[in-house]
Amino acid sequence: MSERLEDIAAAMVADGKGLLAADESSGTIKKRFDVIGVESTADSRRDYREMMFRASEAMTKYISGVILYDETIHQKAADGTPLVDIIKATGAVPGIKVDAGAKPLAGFPGDTITEGLDGLRERLADYYKLGARFAKWRAVIDIDVSKGVPSATSIASNAHALARYAALCQEAGIVPIVEPEVLMDGAHDIDTCYEISKATLTKLYAELYAARVALEGTILKPNMVLAGKKSGKVSSPEEVAERTIKLFRETVPAAIGGIAFLSGGQSDEEATANLNAINAIGPHPWKLTFSYGRALQAAPQKAWGGKAANVAAAQAAFAHRAHMNHLAALGQWQPKLEQAA
Ligand code: 13P
Repeated sequence: MSERLEDIAAAMVADGKGLLAADESSGTIKKRFDVIGVESTADSRRDYREMMFRASEAMTKYISGVILYDETIHQKAADGTPLVDIIKATGAVPGIKVDAGAKPLAGFPGDTITEGLDGLRERLADYYKLGARFAKWRAVIDIDVSKGVPSATSIASNAHALARYAALCQEAGIVPIVEPEVLMDGAHDIDTCYEISKATLTKLYAELYAARVALEGTILKPNMVLAGKKSGKVSSPEEVAERTIKLFRETVPAAIGGIAFLSGGQSDEEATANLNAINAIGPHPWKLTFSYGRALQAAPQKAWGGKAANVAAAQAAFAHRAHMNHLAALGQWQPKLEQAA
């Protein structure tokens, strides 16, 4: 495969393909395993992820790349094959989460700043040698308007960190996924999500420009514009699509490599229906696909339950969600296809 950043980025958003976000930290994957009653050990985490990477139907047809966690990029399958080699054999690009997590922003209660810039140049060089050709850094913007969250300082600090990260990635020959996630956990309405997302993306692209990041060699991983979970409202796919595309037209340069959404706590089917509605109102200046964690993995996790006997059923569940999201990335999904499964 070409090693040019813009070619890697283009492959990541190839028609009908999207990213599998399998980069849960050890703390997060433990929470997921607790739900299915599986003890989280290095081996169980390996077995679980190997199950997905060996789901050849899903991987070869629908998955363009996999975001890994530090532990996983170093791990070998049960038969000794590096997991990275299994991913590469499917044609998908291995990627790596490089941020060190969102920490409280000093002086701004309720706001966070994502850490991990110190030593990043050296870590990126190591990850490149291990086969990573893209990376991910997630900034977290919560919304709690009554408490003044997010502050302008939080938005600016996170955008600056994302730009420094992106420049270091490109220096290392790695495509940066820039992820400024405006959380959907709050009680806010869709207008507030739109306004905060607009402020966030406007600042982000100003910082990427100032940091001399080549936009063609970047992927944006954004939230969709929708009402917060605690608002008691569910935005319709048509409303989500209209607001999200309006926002991007106002703030996201056409030059970027592409857009791959996070699912952020939407149900599996919501995440698919919303992506589909977004693509159905195209054409758009960018490719818009998925980079889902929970919305791709919740079903296979449940089907797997930590048992080798369930591997085929879990792979089938993964293939189904990947197929549905493949159709949504093309604007060709229909609700009745869910029932057919
Ligand atoms: P979700 O799709 O579960 O939001 O995870 C995507 C991700 O990588 C968040 O950083």
